[in-house]
Amino acid sequence: MTAIHEKYRDIGTPEDFARADDALGRIAETFAAQRERPLDPVIGAFQEVLLDRFQQASPTRDFYRNILAERFIPPGFAVNLFFRGSQAIQMRNESEPGYPEGFESSERWETALDRMLKDEEERKSLTEILLHKDTITTIYERYAGTKIALNLIFQNGMPLRVADLGCGANYGLKGLAVDEPLSGVSGGELQPLIDKRVPIEFGIGVDLADMYDREVIQWRNECRRPGELTHEAMSKTAEFENRISHAEDKIRFMQGDLLDLNLAVPTPVRSDGQTGYHAVVLSTMCYQMSPEDQVSILDRARTLLIDGGIVIIQDFAKSVPKSLKCPMGLEFLDDWGIDSYRTFVLKKNDGEPKELLIFDSGRCKNVRRGKDFDTFTPKEIPVVP
Ligand SMILES: C[S@@+](CC[C@H](N)C(=O)[O-])C[C@H]1O[C@@H](n2cnc3c(N)ncnc32)[C@H](O)[C@@H]1O
Repeated sequence: MTAIHEKYRDIGTPEDFARADDALGRIAETFAAQRERPLDPVIGAFQEVLLDRFQQASPTRDFYRNILAERFIPPGFAVNLFFRGSQAIQMRNESEPGYPEGFESSERWETALDRMLKDEEERKSLTEILLHKDTITTIYERYAGTKIALNLIFQNGMPLRVADLGCGANYGLKGLAVDEPLSGVSGGELQPLIDKRVPIEFGIGVDLADMYDREVIQWRNECRRPGELTHEAMSKTAEFENRISHAEDKIRFMQGDLLDLNLAVPTPVRSDGQTGYHAVVLSTMCYQMSPEDQVSILDRARTLLIDGGIVIIQDFAKSVPKSLKCPMGLEFLDDWGIDSYRTFVLKKNDGEPKELLIFDSGRCKNVRRGKDFDTFTPKEIPVVP
């Protein structure tokens, strides 16, 4: 047993380990379910190895169990983070260049994982990622949900102020502000709402990770799916970043921890003295959090709104009655299968999230009406211009 391993055992209470065992079981179930339809062959091979190791006593199982006892990682997030963390360590290994080539095979992952857990430096780096990092993958296509919600709910042409909490690389608001097309997203009857420009007059993206920091940029690349690590895909992202950089006068970025009550998010003041945003976006962030933290983030989002403003939550979730486990009225899903990624809208003073949209997946190729779509009309939310 390594020193790190010992340390966790001292810290973890029996309740922590009971929670970790429950999470390990749910993660293994998700790996098993995803076998039928792997997101990517490299991810599929990685999950196959972990599934096998999680189902019996093994040093790998002990390692992840200790991590889960130390840090609350919701199982859906852990499925993602375990892979991204291991991918990062493999990409940093200079003596084995060429990743992801060959990693569609379980044998390559068997050898790599054994090495990562034995090599002191690699194990330390992997532990650091799993205990402290969030994945920061940022997908512009996800902001089709924000665009549809804003175009549907606010009056035609009204200049809007929008905050994006957990904005990652801040692609969303910047892309919308320069009217970067969402050409990869098909919306059928919703297409006009995707194609219409959103009149954003001011926006701010806030994130724990400083999007301009060199190490953060490296981690963001390490968070890409293996199929998105090609030279062609990386160049496309660089070109996209260049095009949206023109929005920097309208769309700010602020680094900060939104769970820190001392963090003040700047809010624009209007001529009538009312401060705040028309909309606050929480896109693919809440699934990474504990129920208590979700409540804190939602409270903060509400305080940033003007009267009549809305919170747009987009995540791997479905609406359920509020409970201790699901205090926002959303159940976050472990398995990101078909139709698991949805857009919900909450009004400033009304607690119930309404399901506006359903996407085919978190990569947002297709979108359609959610079950509460018809309850939204511009008249329903009176907003002072
Ligand atoms: C998966 S990314 C989503 C990025 C983008 N919103 C999207 O939908 O593509 C989640 C982001 O939430 C951020 N985040 C998590 N906890 C946070 C906190 N307490 N304060 C600020 N940002 C946080 C992470 O740093 C990460 O960039």
